[in-house]
Amino acid sequence: MDILVIGSGGREYSIGYALKSDESVDKIYFAPGNGATSDLGENIAIKDYEELATFAKENSIDLTIVGPEDPLVGGIVDIFKEHDLTIFGPSKAAAQLEGSKVFMKNALKKYGVPTAKYIETNSLDEATKFINSLNEPIVVKADGLCAGKGVIIAKSKEEAIETVSDMLSGKSFGEAGKQVIVEEFLDGYELSVFAICDGKDYVVLPAAQDHKRLLDGDEGPNTGGMGAYAPTPLVDEQLYSKIEDRVIKPTLKGLDSDGMPFTGVLFIGVMVVNGEPIILEYNVRFGDPECEELMALIESPVSDLFFKAATGDLKNLNIKFSNKYAVGVVIASKNYPYSSSEPAEIIIDEIHHEDLQENSYIAYAGVSRDSDGVLLATGGRVLVCVGLGDSIKEARDRAYMLTGQIHFIGKKCRMDIAYQALKD
Ligand SMILES: Nc1ncnc2c1ncn2[C@@H]1O[C@H](COP(=O)(O)OP(=O)(O)O)[C@@H](O)[C@H]1O
Ligand SMILES: [Mg+2]
Repeated sequence: MDILVIGSGGREYSIGYALKSDESVDKIYFAPGNGATSDLGENIAIKDYEELATFAKENSIDLTIVGPEDPLVGGIVDIFKEHDLTIFGPSKAAAQLEGSKVFMKNALKKYGVPTAKYIETNSLDEATKFINSLNEPIVVKADGLCAGKGVIIAKSKEEAIETVSDMLSGKSFGEAGKQVIVEEFLDGYELSVFAICDGKDYVVLPAAQDHKRLLDGDEGPNTGGMGAYAPTPLVDEQLYSKIEDRVIKPTLKGLDSDGMPFTGVLFIGVMVVNGEPIILEYNVRFGDPECEELMALIESPVSDLFFKAATGDLKNLNIKFSNKYAVGVVIASKNYPYSSSEPAEIIIDEIHHEDLQENSYIAYAGVSRDSDGVLLATGGRVLVCVGLGDSIKEARDRAYMLTGQIHFIGKKCRMDIAYQALKD
């Protein structure tokens, strides 16, 4: 089967990398892809969704997999379906779970899924009243997509009111902030749980933990994610079944009966408070860098998972997970996440240890090739070093061994990925 992957990050590289070793996959295309996805398949420089659908038709693409949220929220799935193409991802209607936090919170409330107490509003007066009824800190969220920057944890009521006022005026996030959520602060630990859904049925992947802050010990500014590991021992069978019964099942049932069945990745942002899962948010695609580890933990053919999900056939899926652990360490460029960095040549030492060869891989993200074919770090998050092992520690050690083989000017990474699982 020929597959088109939409996106250009490490997430899409890792999906392509998993498809590459899948016997039923022939050709892989990436739109637009990056300087390393061209080693796995062919990069296509088409952006327009209608034109991509035409490309898929003309090239007899059997399955399209959408990586990022923007095309999903923009309705790429609906356009492909109008052309009778098979595509993995939610419709524009269902993608509002990520596209609008107001839509998402109201859906959680309607379907009875546990979430932080909140109001949605575009009135400063109403927000102020609610803020005054809460204890500090107070969480303020812009409604629309803000590339991970639209959530402010205000330390005081004054700061919360000021944040709401800036958002509503359009000053901080433009249209995306003209409607806001104010909610109570939840104190617990965070998890990412991914359910692959076909509209009715679902498969839960091993739970992962991301590291959003730039620096060790969860210090410094927020980033797109500096590393992740899975499965995390912070989830036991009991917690998984609470998440299935209280979160996934009612959400899929509710969306289906509201006429927007959910197909694709339901990314559940969970805060575990006193052992109970409370939902922070939904996203409608894989997390990046969580995808890079999860792809390495699926032993059965991943094309089968995506194809069966896209065609409403998950009940006939046999999925097999590896019993290993995966740890992914992001290597970012010098000025990340503040500003762009000068392109720098990437040099990778030859790996001699068989052990490392067999239990690691690099997922490339912010890379390009110059006219001589030299691989360049072009800024942002450059790549993810993924290590596998029989324990989290072994996987972590291999991931860090791999980071030592990679060189470019300004290279930086966190040194404590998976620390929460390795405490004492
Ligand atoms: N109610 C809350 N209580 C405590 N922390 C929160 C709350 N809501 C969000 N956060 C923190 O803010 C981060 C971003 O919020 P989230 O809802 O995931 O929005 P987004 O990923 O779109 O920026 C979360 O990962 C979590 O660390
Ligand atoms: Mg989030």
